[in-house]
Amino acid sequence: MIKEKRTIIAPSLLTADFSKLKEEITEVEKLGAEYLHLDVMDGNFVPNISFGAPVISSLRKHSNLVFDVHLMVNEPDYLIEGFAQFSDIITVHAEATKHLNRTIQLIKSFGKKVGVALNPSTPLDVIKYDLDNIDMVLIMTVNPGFGGQKFIPEMLQKIKDLRKINENIDIEVDGGINAETAKLVKEAGANVLVAGSYIFSGNYKEKIESLK
Ligand code: DX5
Ligand code: ZN
Repeated sequence: MIKEKRTIIAPSLLTADFSKLKEEITEVEKLGAEYLHLDVMDGNFVPNISFGAPVISSLRKHSNLVFDVHLMVNEPDYLIEGFAQFSDIITVHAEATKHLNRTIQLIKSFGKKVGVALNPSTPLDVIKYDLDNIDMVLIMTVNPGFGGQKFIPEMLQKIKDLRKINENIDIEVDGGINAETAKLVKEAGANVLVAGSYIFSGNYKEKIESLK
């Protein structure tokens, strides 16, 4: 039996009220969130554009949360040095870089934690030989690009398979997480839970508690 790891809650800023970001992040920090999940989209790797470095760096001054940056960007190497200035964890998509190992080394060279994200159809095999150099695997539980989508249940097996391969690695899940799906992903072995629309649709305190 694999020991369940402590659950970390990572509210996704994408579904917060963009007209009052400082208040939103202060609130979730006060209520026990530990990470702030920051979805950077380039309108190319995913069919949407969100926000980038200027927004995130201005929030950095107002928060002690772990800044967990999820780059949904094609060939993201050109962004890494800049983002390293204000990020704690930098996650890139395995599908978005031709030389994943090089991108991983680049993130590490700035002393940042490395995350690698996998789209729902991407098998775990693609990170098999890189696992020792990765701090966190982000299992996408929806197709990336938008908040408010429905959880893809087939991803539970993927989480279980990864947890079987590696007991210690952080497994983050992203997309369609609510009280019900949180229970399922935790049982499967995930320990970092991103939640956007579920938390930011109201009663943050109760919502954050219900995910733990
Ligand atoms: C989707 C993003 C998510 C998104 C999650 O591409 O990576 O982080 O904000 O939103 P919910 O929790 O609403 O599915
Ligand atoms: Zn995300």
